[in-house]
Amino acid sequence: MEELVDAKLVENIGISNFNKAQTERLIKNARIKPCNMQIEIHPYFCNKKLVEFCQSVGMSVTAYAPLGNAGRTWKSADEPIIFDEPVLKEISKAKGKSITQVVLRFHLQRNLVVIPKSVTPSRIKENFDVFSFSLTEEEMQKIWSLNKNLRFYSEPIAKDHKYYAFHDEY
Ligand SMILES: NC(=O)c1ccc[n+]([C@@H]2O[C@H](COP(=O)([O-])OP(=O)(O)OC[C@H]3O[C@@H](n4cnc5c(N)ncnc54)[C@H](OP(=O)(O)O)[C@@H]3O)[C@@H](O)[C@H]2O)c1
Repeated sequence: MEELVDAKLVENIGISNFNKAQTERLIKNARIKPCNMQIEIHPYFCNKKLVEFCQSVGMSVTAYAPLGNAGRTWKSADEPIIFDEPVLKEISKAKGKSITQVVLRFHLQRNLVVIPKSVTPSRIKENFDVFSFSLTEEEMQKIWSLNKNLRFYSEPIAKDHKYYAFHDEY
């Protein structure tokens, strides 16, 4: 990747699903530091410590599955979905914004990049409309309280690999 930057084929290097120790090892050994980390982040998995670590070393953070991907095929029936959360319903009603917009705004106010995915044109439009309102500190705290350290993308197929990233706390 560094050679690709040198050749001007790539502008910046980003990484995904690294844990803190792996990121530190990379930073120590890399000539060109990664500029962005893409990791799972949604109200049930706020990933606070890893976000703070990345931001402390000057990396931006991208939240993947920012809505908790309620449509994932491997979802079990007892796992929560953002659309059922009373706290989010309450904030959504108070703001006159959808639950999706409230959740995306929560991420943006944490200085995160968000990449919600939708194949539905009206939802794509809705998901961009998150810059005309803001959440109060109290509303932010209410959403923080939904965190359960519940990872939906744990990739169990890779858990015995020596570089499996998710055995560490973060
Ligand atoms: N780096 C990694 O390891 C990694 C892992 C997972 C995901 N990602 C990336 O992260 C991005 C998003 O992740 P994701 O697709 O897993 O999860 P997500 O964005 O949290 O959720 C996607 C689901 O939410 C629905 N949705 C989107 N906007 C909505 C709205 N306004 N109202 C109601 N439902 C809405 C979509 O439905 P419809 O499409 O039917 O509208 C889809 O079922 C993707 O680009 C993906 O490639 C990266």
